Amino acid sequence: MEKYIINGGKTLSGEVTISGAKNAAVAIIPATILCDEPCRIENIPNISDVALIAKILQNLGAKVTRVNKSTLDIDPRPINTFSAEDDSVRGMRASYYLLGALIGRFHNARVALPGGCNFGVRPIDQHLKGFEALGAQCELVKGAIVEAKSDRRMQGASIYLDTVSVGSTMNLMLAAVKAEGQTIIENAAKEPHIVDLANFLNSMGANIRGAGTDVIKIRGVDYLHGITYSIIPDQIEAGTYMAAVAATRGKILVKNVTPKHLESITAKLKEIGCAVEEYDEAVFVDATVRPLRRCNIKTMPHPGFPTDCQPQFVAMLTTVEGTSFVTENVWDNRYQYVNELLTMGAKISVEGRVAIIDGNTALHGAPVKATDLRGGAALIIAGLVACGTTELSSVHYVERGYEEIVEKLRGLGADIKKQYFPGDETAITA
Ligand code: EPU
Repeated sequence: MEKYIINGGKTLSGEVTISGAKNAAVAIIPATILCDEPCRIENIPNISDVALIAKILQNLGAKVTRVNKSTLDIDPRPINTFSAEDDSVRGMRASYYLLGALIGRFHNARVALPGGCNFGVRPIDQHLKGFEALGAQCELVKGAIVEAKSDRRMQGASIYLDTVSVGSTMNLMLAAVKAEGQTIIENAAKEPHIVDLANFLNSMGANIRGAGTDVIKIRGVDYLHGITYSIIPDQIEAGTYMAAVAATRGKILVKNVTPKHLESITAKLKEIGCAVEEYDEAVFVDATVRPLRRCNIKTMPHPGFPTDCQPQFVAMLTTVEGTSFVTENVWDNRYQYVNELLTMGAKISVEGRVAIIDGNTALHGAPVKATDLRGGAALIIAGLVACGTTELSSVHYVERGYEEIVEKLRGLGADIKKQYFPGDETAITA
């Protein structure tokens, strides 16, 4: 029902402020289930995935109060069920964190299988393997609900993850934080949001060491007290604006970031010819200093180049000199958006995990559809540089993860607006 209308050709300039990290927020909000007192969470991004996980907590019985746009008070004490099976749970990938949090609190959980953006098979076998090692019996009921059962508190265990997985690393931290004894997670993922979740739990009294390395040691505790906690900035939102400014050959100051978390993105921008200056909590990206040229990118778990910035960089690389090769190593099928870019005139061929991108292509505006969150962001970037008007539909995908993207881009000089169709009761034009 809603589209973004983008008139391309404007150069981005000015300042943009990055919101809190989606993938930290969608873990930390369910993590409050484990807390024995109310908590306040600050720097929460105002996005639909956060609204959904907050609603799910409310449906479980938690008292969730919005203090302001970016702050939630959550009192998890009234939660008296370990069953989360309604449709809203199926509506997002991160609802799998309910499993870890409910197991940690009740040593039982019944959670509908998660949905989320669709880019190939998204198994949760490593989550379940870890829960079983901690003492929960896991079963898939009617192919749609994961049930984890135990008649006693989780017992610390050593768990080696067969694949580096963000979700299973965080879920096992949740399930183990109140377990009896010590849990060791080996081959753990190292993303900034894993460190953020550990910091959140440790501030409440947990004993987690090694988050940010590939071995995490968790000594179980009995009680987690209430705190006020501020979520880290979103490295992927920052990377998206950095790709957009390169694509439009502008210069912008990206504020409220942790430059260390952006190193792999910054390195690629420098390689293609941008100047990037780092400050304490900001980065300045200047794409005007020299002509931009091709590069190769391989996505990898952190500290490698993030898969969640792959589509945005592919869109940007259509505008630079030379042929770039991008290899997607994390997800099997994260190139659905490429077909949409082709309708805008991009010259990209995909062979298995590799996208081959011919640069210096003149993109033209077209009606296109967001296929997923980051694919949608890539199409916005393409629309910003294309000649003519791009109409992007299925923008609900984009709004799962980008706070006020239309307003932020307009603040940088982009010609973009959101259009609601007649007949939609909420019709306004922003
Ligand atoms: N995997 C398994 N078994 C498992 C879990 C994962 O084989 O039990 C595989 C996956 O199929 C994938 C790889 O391991 O090939 C990595 O998956 P991971 O578990 O790290 O992904 P995730 O936790 O489901 C999160 C983010 C994704 C992001 C990935 C990788 C959330 C809610 N989602 O997913 O974010 O792409 O980590 O960094 O945190 C996005 O924000 O656009 C997004 C998709």
